[in-house]
Amino acid sequence: MSVSERFELSGKVAVLSGASRGIGLAAATTLAQAGAHVVLASRKPEALEDAARQIRDADGEATPIACHNGDLAQVAALFEQVQSKFGRCDILVNNAATNPHYGSVLEVDEKIWDKTVDVNLKGYFFMSQHAARLMKVNGSGSIINVASVNAIRPISGQVVYSLTKAAICSMTQGFAKELGPSGIRVNSLLPGITNTKFAAALVQNEQFMEQIVPQIPLRRAAQPDEMSGMILYLASDASSYTTGASFVVDGGILA
Ligand SMILES: NC(=O)c1ccc[n+]([C@@H]2O[C@H](COP(=O)([O-])OP(=O)(O)OC[C@H]3O[C@@H](n4cnc5c(N)ncnc54)[C@H](OP(=O)(O)O)[C@@H]3O)[C@@H](O)[C@H]2O)c1
Repeated sequence: MSVSERFELSGKVAVLSGASRGIGLAAATTLAQAGAHVVLASRKPEALEDAARQIRDADGEATPIACHNGDLAQVAALFEQVQSKFGRCDILVNNAATNPHYGSVLEVDEKIWDKTVDVNLKGYFFMSQHAARLMKVNGSGSIINVASVNAIRPISGQVVYSLTKAAICSMTQGFAKELGPSGIRVNSLLPGITNTKFAAALVQNEQFMEQIVPQIPLRRAAQPDEMSGMILYLASDASSYTTGASFVVDGGILA
């Protein structure tokens, strides 16, 4: 197989959560360029339609399906639609996450806890379960869980968010062990600080950036499409012997 054939995704169906903007939209654009039909899932239908239009305008294939990651009935309905429209799911990028609280552990209440854990962890788990059932039928598939460098080094003020990201790395290993014999690979991507709406409060905070940038060997935040190369690698046959692993893409901050 040639190098370009290893990254080729023609005929594959990829479901991406949180795909209307940021890291998810950048990844969907790249997977579509590699030939996959991308299913874009997040909450707001208009934003998803815009994202799908952008991909189609560049000759990619995209289907938008609105889905709240923390609502299991919506997650089940998403995969019912994927099954009835395409009859298969080859790639899942679990990417939609929330961080509703920036503050001390002493201020965290049950509402903050439930929202964060529901979207970031319960959502990733059941999206993976639905995708893996479809993948098992074909005897192959790749699940990519977008976690964070916070999984390894939690930031003060983001403890609940960080612990969901650490749990995702454990979930990645557990799913990889159980599903490897069925031909399904499961890996995590741990981005460093990336210039998206999600991180806008940090990236646009001059004081924070003056503190953090000297700790980043590459001396800047990432752009969303700088995560796409790793996602394409993990989605494709280029990573055919890679499973149960976590990949840091962080400009060197954890070095
Ligand atoms: N940006 C960073 O610095 C950074 C660093 C490390 C890790 N990450 C991780 O990277 C991933 C993507 O973040 P991003 O920075 O690209 O964020 P972003 O630009 O804000 O995009 C978030 C996406 O998730 C969707 N979303 C939010 N809540 C959702 C829900 N409950 N159900 C379904 N979709 C939902 C949003 O669309 P709707 O609002 O329409 O639903 C949007 O499409 C997240 O897992 C995040 O933890 C980001």
